[in-house]
Amino acid sequence: MFDASVYTQRRNALRSRMNKGIVLLPGNTEAPMNYPANTYHFRQDSNFLYFFGLSQPDLAGLIDLDSGTDILFGDDFGIEDIIWMGPQPSMAERAALVGITNTQPLGELANYLSAALAAGRQVHFVPPYRAETQLWLSSLLGIRPYFLKKYASRELIQAIVSLREIKEEDEIAEIEKMIDVARLMHTTAMQMAHPGTSEQEIFGRMEGIALSKANGTSFPIILSINGQTLHNHYHGNMLSEGRLLVSDAGCESADGYCSDITRTIPVGGKFSKKQKDIYQIVLAANETAIEESKPGVFYRDIHLMAARMIAAGLRDLGLMKGNIDDAVTAGAHALFFPHGLGHQMGLDVHDMEGLGENFVGYNDEISRSTQFGLAYLRMAKRLQPGHVITVEPGIYFIPALIRQWKEQNLHTDFINYSEVEKYVDFGGIRIEDDILITPDGCRVLGTPIPKSVADVEAEIAKGL
Ligand code: GLY
Repeated sequence: MFDASVYTQRRNALRSRMNKGIVLLPGNTEAPMNYPANTYHFRQDSNFLYFFGLSQPDLAGLIDLDSGTDILFGDDFGIEDIIWMGPQPSMAERAALVGITNTQPLGELANYLSAALAAGRQVHFVPPYRAETQLWLSSLLGIRPYFLKKYASRELIQAIVSLREIKEEDEIAEIEKMIDVARLMHTTAMQMAHPGTSEQEIFGRMEGIALSKANGTSFPIILSINGQTLHNHYHGNMLSEGRLLVSDAGCESADGYCSDITRTIPVGGKFSKKQKDIYQIVLAANETAIEESKPGVFYRDIHLMAARMIAAGLRDLGLMKGNIDDAVTAGAHALFFPHGLGHQMGLDVHDMEGLGENFVGYNDEISRSTQFGLAYLRMAKRLQPGHVITVEPGIYFIPALIRQWKEQNLHTDFINYSEVEKYVDFGGIRIEDDILITPDGCRVLGTPIPKSVADVEAEIAKGL
């Protein structure tokens, strides 16, 4: 946890961006796996973590904009809890860690809110993403669960985004520590990428590193020799010579800060010529996108630049044809690069996605495209110093998509289907780094992770 003053300053900063009423930030409760007392790993809500810092279940934070008070609602532990859980700090002790002197039992929250609502005061909340929180908020506020999203406070969402998207120095340090753990996860995967090893073994080692050196993974590990499936969570294959292994994984700190890194590894240690040709296109798109990322630039323009580099590279290999600007404007490149270049990252791996992607990656200056491929871009708006974003171009050969586009004669001016068909068993390549936008450009966060053909091959060789 950070110093108590950090949380006080954040709450005050939120206050200065809002008008009146009450801000209610419910923490998360335990979520059962298969019976009530057998719960999943507990993960605190990220907005609660940002403003109230405590990572225990069954707490709620309240910021009263009118009276200037901050209240932490939660219950002290009784002797029965202590028997099972060991000695626990009191609510007052926990609250002091985040700069709060006013604590009340959780049951008092309903009374506080009833009085506020009866007095006609506005209660600001963000859209709940867990059923338990929906039911809780529904009963506290008298709003049916279905309507909670509609009545969520746009003012609060925008104020939170404006604060959380500009990372403080201490947050960046946390993220960099998590990238260094991710580095170990990925170099371990590289050293294990030999024919006859199973995806499951590598997955387990990576997950183990995330658990032993951090607070677990920041999202379910994507690790597959079928990397053409963008989010492939099936780990039942054996690695075989000549396949490409896509490894997209990161971890999170005890305070919830994330990393998100992708590397693509040639099983057996050497990229074939065909693989290297495609790899170099993705690598150049990744590196040029990083070079071009700086304050004031729309990230959508960086995405489109990467798309043009991918289309041009594929044209040089005979897979695409025609004018590259026209091809990308038409969306033809999305056959190979059907996702966005990146997203913000912080306390959530897709930072603040629960508040609504369009509040995080778009604004009054730029709205989301509906074109296939570009529509999936999560971050499009102008970059600002303090943004932490991922840069993750890729090229994929997705047999079902190729078949569908070919049957529909889509973009035949730009795609050489007869050449593309020679790649249907290629798989996919994605390369991802996490960057910080600085006042005059950007910086790749963390210790460099092998990325060039030579460096990836050298890392694999260490495991031979
Ligand atoms: N790294 C997984 C994702 O961005 O969705």
